[in-house]
Amino acid sequence: MRILFAAAAALALAVTGSAQAQAPIVIKFSHVVTNDTPKGKGALKFQELAEKYTNGKVKVEVYPNSSLYKDKEELEALQLGAVQMLAPSLAKFGPIGVREFEVFDLPYILPDKAALRRVTEGEVGKKLFGLLAPKGITGLAYWDNGFKVMSANKPLHLPADFRGLKMRIQSSKVLEAQMRALGATPQVMAFSEVYQALQTGVVDGTENTPSNEYTQKMHEVQKYTVLSGHGYIGYAVITNKKFWDGLPADIRTQLEKAMAEATQFANDASQKDNDDALEEMRKSGKTTITALTPEENAAWRKALSVVTDEMAPRVGKGIIDEFQKEAGAGATH
Ligand code: LMR
Repeated sequence: MRILFAAAAALALAVTGSAQAQAPIVIKFSHVVTNDTPKGKGALKFQELAEKYTNGKVKVEVYPNSSLYKDKEELEALQLGAVQMLAPSLAKFGPIGVREFEVFDLPYILPDKAALRRVTEGEVGKKLFGLLAPKGITGLAYWDNGFKVMSANKPLHLPADFRGLKMRIQSSKVLEAQMRALGATPQVMAFSEVYQALQTGVVDGTENTPSNEYTQKMHEVQKYTVLSGHGYIGYAVITNKKFWDGLPADIRTQLEKAMAEATQFANDASQKDNDDALEEMRKSGKTTITALTPEENAAWRKALSVVTDEMAPRVGKGIIDEFQKEAGAGATH
């Protein structure tokens, strides 16, 4: 009888054991934009490749468009281990105490994508990821979105046009200083709430990439869009450090390979996505898209030139200098 009992127990153990061995490792990847954006496409590509390279030992569940968590909640959820992967905008790390990421928000700090790549693939990119470790976070990759436009229900030619406007921003103190330097009142708001806030007049305007404005239909409630290119939006793909370090080494290697390829894919898609979105916005006839004249551009640069020095104590003079050196942007400031 005892033997029978022991055999049954052993069998039960073997069954659960093998069931456990077969149960996939689940990665919940939460983000706030639609599937049809550079980040959305990158997340889906990572899902496809991660599942393929691990032969199904890893299952990636992608939760787009704030369907699981909004901006601030998602970072808390990652730290608590409720989700395993995110790709927050680089402008959203201040609230968890890593202010140095806000260097990316400084006006005109990135002249082009080549400069961006030098930074993200260079020492600054590495250093910034290093700052995440004490927060229980591991940085995996930098993903592109693109350069920003500004929009409102009035034309925005000169800084004076911003006077009295309430402008939605991401949770970055540099963006706050930027809007104040233009004479506007900044309003921090989760991405998921922006369309409605614009529609109901809770805020007057916003800044974002064409891809983000178009996929959230913001252009339908903003009569004017200006191609200012005053700043950049990109992402840090991050994971819970404990989760990542606890993965079997061979699985981690396969996921790193999947991430490297998904990064290439997302970054390759980003320019076309933004170009296409702008074209769709134009075709819709709902927003008038204009470029800045050289004189207007100079006036924006002049108004915004105070922001870098003003924010140096917060972001860190050292990181700003290093960033400018790597970007090769020093000459433009
Ligand atoms: C925002 O404006 O909040 C965006 O950066 C959202 C995103 O993740 O692109």
